[in-house]
Amino acid sequence: MTTGQVDFSVAGKVALVTGAASGIGRAISIRLAQAGSSLILIDIVDASDLAAELNATFIQCDVAREDQYAAAVKQAVALHGHIDILVNNAGISVSNESILDDSDAAYLRAFRVNTLGVVHGIRCVAPVMPTGSSIITISSLSSLVGAPLLGAYAASKAALAAVTRTSALELAPRGIRVNEVAPGAVRTAMNDSGAPFVERELAWVKAAGAFGRMAEPEEIAAVVHFLASDDCQMITGQTLVVDGGLTAGPSLGLLDALVEGDNK
Ligand SMILES: NC(=O)c1ccc[n+]([C@@H]2O[C@H](COP(=O)([O-])OP(=O)(O)OC[C@H]3O[C@@H](n4cnc5c(N)ncnc54)[C@H](O)[C@@H]3O)[C@@H](O)[C@H]2O)c1
Repeated sequence: MTTGQVDFSVAGKVALVTGAASGIGRAISIRLAQAGSSLILIDIVDASDLAAELNATFIQCDVAREDQYAAAVKQAVALHGHIDILVNNAGISVSNESILDDSDAAYLRAFRVNTLGVVHGIRCVAPVMPTGSSIITISSLSSLVGAPLLGAYAASKAALAAVTRTSALELAPRGIRVNEVAPGAVRTAMNDSGAPFVERELAWVKAAGAFGRMAEPEEIAAVVHFLASDDCQMITGQTLVVDGGLTAGPSLGLLDALVEGDNK
């Protein structure tokens, strides 16, 4: 049975993307605009250059502040009447500490942006979404496997699976789907700091990932496009892992290296 477009079309849709100024959010914005959606770009930093490039609207907003988020959605609705696609992408990487040394402040900061920022998005945007709309949250692989020295970040992302599943069930009667994408390491500013936990993560991806490399932001954007389209109407409440096979098991390269090490 065909229930919508059969070509993963998002043409003519109105999409709101948070954290649009850089990295994955920027790639998602470009992809959806190229696919024919009208874009509302939200970020705490200026993204008006990208908005001009994409013929989009930029609204400066801190997703952790529900009052600012509500005002941004009001502005978007005044322009477009409704929103079809919400991409909860804005996020921050906090701390580089063992759970023994980490502070409550780091946990609260992570939860305010990474978890409550998403809750605010769903709360403010779902009421202006027509049936057939799609909400996609960018979670993280660190929510599914242990992430040494990234406890606050990982915990704030793990909470998103519950938010995704619960809101998927609550919003299904309104015809709104809710899913999350959990990327492994992606080549963005977040992985550019040279911090010890980043170095370790990249070494892990190289040694143990089936493809031995980070994802490009565009490869995450493609998955978001897929989940946003009308062809995905039976997918809701799911976590789609995009990690280049990292959690499928150890790579052949890693196993060979281990055997070689044992035989020395
Ligand atoms: N890069 C990775 O390896 C990776 C892996 C898994 C998940 N993620 C997630 O992907 C998302 C995008 O990350 P990225 O790698 O592109 O990082 P990035 O730092 O390049 O982009 C994050 C964007 O979010 C914006 N932002 C931060 N706090 C905000 C707030 N309070 N309100 C509004 N905007 C805010 C930033 O200004 C920035 O433009 C994040 O949620 C991140 O946790 C990234």
